Amino acid sequence: RSHPLILAIESSCDETAASVVDGNGVLRSDVVASQIDFHARFGGVVPEIASRKHIEAICGVCDECLDSAARSLGTSRLRWRDLDAVAVTYAPGLVGALVVGVAFAKGAAWGADIPLIAVNHLEGHLYANKIATPDIQPPMVVSLVSGGHTMLVHVKDWGEYVTMGSTIDDAVGEAFDKVAKALGLGYPGGPIISKLAAKGNPKAIGFPRALMHSGDLRFSLSGLKTAVTIYIQKEQQAGRELNMPDIAASFQQAVVDVQVKKAMVALDETGAREFCVGGGVSANPGLRAAYEKACKKRGVRLSMPPLSACGDQAAMIALVAHDRYKQGKFEDWSLDVKAHAPL
Ligand code: KG4
Ligand code: ZN
Repeated sequence: RSHPLILAIESSCDETAASVVDGNGVLRSDVVASQIDFHARFGGVVPEIASRKHIEAICGVCDECLDSAARSLGTSRLRWRDLDAVAVTYAPGLVGALVVGVAFAKGAAWGADIPLIAVNHLEGHLYANKIATPDIQPPMVVSLVSGGHTMLVHVKDWGEYVTMGSTIDDAVGEAFDKVAKALGLGYPGGPIISKLAAKGNPKAIGFPRALMHSGDLRFSLSGLKTAVTIYIQKEQQAGRELNMPDIAASFQQAVVDVQVKKAMVALDETGAREFCVGGGVSANPGLRAAYEKACKKRGVRLSMPPLSACGDQAAMIALVAHDRYKQGKFEDWSLDVKAHAPL
């Protein structure tokens, strides 16, 4: 049984992505076109460039997605009218970027006379955990950590989400990006810092762990970024050479300690026995190892998306859409985008 076949589109930030899921919830294709090279020279995502790159890429990405799904299904060709629905990320994200995906999805669904499904991007990151662990089951706690988000959410049930805490200033990924910039290392900072960190001593420098013992689930990361910047300036003024691996490892450890501590508080408060993660920063090896250790110690089951599904892609959107289709939850043609939306 391969129906319903759903094609999902993701364009909320700087990845243009499409994925097809079949009636059994099996992913049949997963295509991601990253724009990172066009944004790197500016040290961050430039919204207008993102929109323009989405509009250039989206037809090609969907063509490739349909072709690879056809191969996976063993048919010679898959056309829009062979699908049962089109799904799309409508929030949260860059408005101009979301509009490209939503307008395209509407056109495709309208032209093929099939229903339209709207998906929340953050719910997508939660569902990405199903790729490696299909049987995850609420109640759970999920940590969402990316360039734009840092939050702990109580998943009481599918569709029933309570945000327990989030950042009061920078997102975790933003902190990685800013520290990499301060070290002159390029963009995006996360992958560069984590590679350096693997060669450094995490105890070399005592960077602050803001709000670690605040008793609540708020995060603050701007002070940590400032502390790293001040440390770099002092070392340079003293004429000492920077030990980049030690700075990276010590910074990363400060982030990891707070993330793990608060996640454990959230598990305590909810009594949940399952923990999962999502977002670009959840690809960080130091963070993953620390979660493995902490969850094992507590007897809490840990699920993590494969590295390829931590950042943005459409497979996670397709998995949410699969559930929405079963619930018969479709949109009318007036669907709009939203910059901000809770999980
Ligand atoms: O989820 P994502 O691809 O896009 C959104 O922001 O929604 O996350 C991108 C963020 C960037 O800030 C990037 O530096 C960070 O995730 N990141 C990492 C790692 N890989 C990506 N941060 C820490 N360690 C990593 N290995
Ligand atoms: Zn994301």
